[in-house]
Amino acid sequence: MGRKFFVGGNWKCNGTTEQVKKIVGTLNEAKVPGEDIVEVVVSPPFVFLSFVKALLRSDFHVAAQNCWVHKGGAYTGEVSAEMLVNLDIPWVILGHSERRALLKESSEFVADKVAYALSQNLKVIACIGETLEQREAGTTLAVVSEQTKAIAAKISNWDNVVLAYEPVWAIGTGKVATPAQAQEVHADLRKWIHDNVSAEVASTVRIIYGGSVNGANSKELAGQADVDGFLVGGASLKPEFIDIINAAT
Ligand code: G3P
Repeated sequence: MGRKFFVGGNWKCNGTTEQVKKIVGTLNEAKVPGEDIVEVVVSPPFVFLSFVKALLRSDFHVAAQNCWVHKGGAYTGEVSAEMLVNLDIPWVILGHSERRALLKESSEFVADKVAYALSQNLKVIACIGETLEQREAGTTLAVVSEQTKAIAAKISNWDNVVLAYEPVWAIGTGKVATPAQAQEVHADLRKWIHDNVSAEVASTVRIIYGGSVNGANSKELAGQADVDGFLVGGASLKPEFIDIINAAT
């Protein structure tokens, strides 16, 4: 397979200047595999992006947690892809379930955001995932393939896309998916991509797992054939994030 392991840290709406300095200090001192083994991308809130980028070790990278759906302008409160490029921020997380739920971001809107961000040469962590009700109704694959299909319909090049499967019922709940549950959905997603995009994209695209990943469960999850890494929330603010990065080896 040879897909480089990817570990993202989604700090969400958290942090003060002092806390950010402390987290970055811990990251900068961490003993982790080289960039050829694991790609590490941390995602602070917008207000700390340049600050973190300036302090962070050069083998780790930063992502914004969102960006606007097209060129900037009279869109109060939004941050455009062009602004991120101007600040030399290489990555952006799009379609997080919290934005899909709280801000009603549809799969179509998320797909438009992914396409626009890629058109501006940003690299994208595209989030998908089902709710507990959808899982209990047996519609997990239908939901995540619909979310993926919307993105696939808008893009032709997947080189700068990492797909993050984040079951909503596992986010922030401590109820992590079992390795078997994660592997099942990741394998189904990879097959959907094989059948609907291409065999080449299916074999190269990284599909990462998010939802209550921590230092204790990351190693077994990382051992699953189709789990290519993680998108970590709460634990990315703690020293155990280093253990999660080291789960790559
Ligand atoms: O984007 C990652 C996030 O949704 C997972 O959150 O706190 O369950 O690791 P958490």
